[in-house]
Amino acid sequence: MTFKPSEVMFLPGDRNALVFRGLIMKPVEDFRIFNGFSCARPDDKDKDIDHFIRDDAQRYFKDKVAVTYGLFFNERGWKTRYPLGFATLQNDAIEIPYKDYYPNMPAVKIGRFGIRLEQQRKRYGSTFLLMICQFMGQPNNRTGCRYLTLNTYPPLINFYEKNNFTVLGGKPPNPRSTKQLVMYLDLLARSIHR
Ligand SMILES: CC(C)(COP(=O)(O)OP(=O)(O)OC[C@H]1O[C@@H](n2cnc3c(N)ncnc32)[C@H](O)[C@@H]1OP(=O)(O)O)[C@@H](O)C(=O)NCCC(=O)NCCS
Repeated sequence: MTFKPSEVMFLPGDRNALVFRGLIMKPVEDFRIFNGFSCARPDDKDKDIDHFIRDDAQRYFKDKVAVTYGLFFNERGWKTRYPLGFATLQNDAIEIPYKDYYPNMPAVKIGRFGIRLEQQRKRYGSTFLLMICQFMGQPNNRTGCRYLTLNTYPPLINFYEKNNFTVLGGKPPNPRSTKQLVMYLDLLARSIHR
């Protein structure tokens, strides 16, 4: 997706909320907005993703294990509206040796990621990933974070590759494999900032 960096901006007075093309991402404060939310399809491997967002994400937040960001249409009353999707972010590290200085590199993991079932295949997932890249890749971050990481299954490699992620260690020989794999994205890659 091509875009101008000036299209991505923080909500005035809120460095945690990012605005882009009629959408807004913001940490979730009241998880009741996910009552009835569903993103898993019958053929999805990650079937407990709905259970996670409805029942566990709040505990992850309270225990400081992960922060969940909601994706909303940027319209009046958006904070209380039913979200388009969510991304649960947590600290991580990735073993990618860099210039011999660092044995591994700081990362943020997209632990869980989902777009509401009836809004899938409309580019919201790709746009949300772009917003997360811009959010974590900002030059004045509070802490060092060089990569985004995630675990996924072979059927979704294509989706994440289209969004600039790479399979760590190369693609599995068997695309039907049910084994989880790690994908990563370098936040300094030039391709993600235009
Ligand atoms: C995976 C998911 C986040 C993608 O979001 P989305 O908004 O539907 O995806 P986009 O519209 O941005 O997709 C862009 C392209 O990626 C590919 N793609 C998207 N979803 C795909 C899927 N489930 N399987 C295979 N390819 C997929 C397609 O090529 C698609 O382009 P097309 O619609 O023109 O064919 C969403 O389908 C979802 O929430 N799935 C259920 C939960 C899940 O699997 N989460 C990820 C766990 S790692």
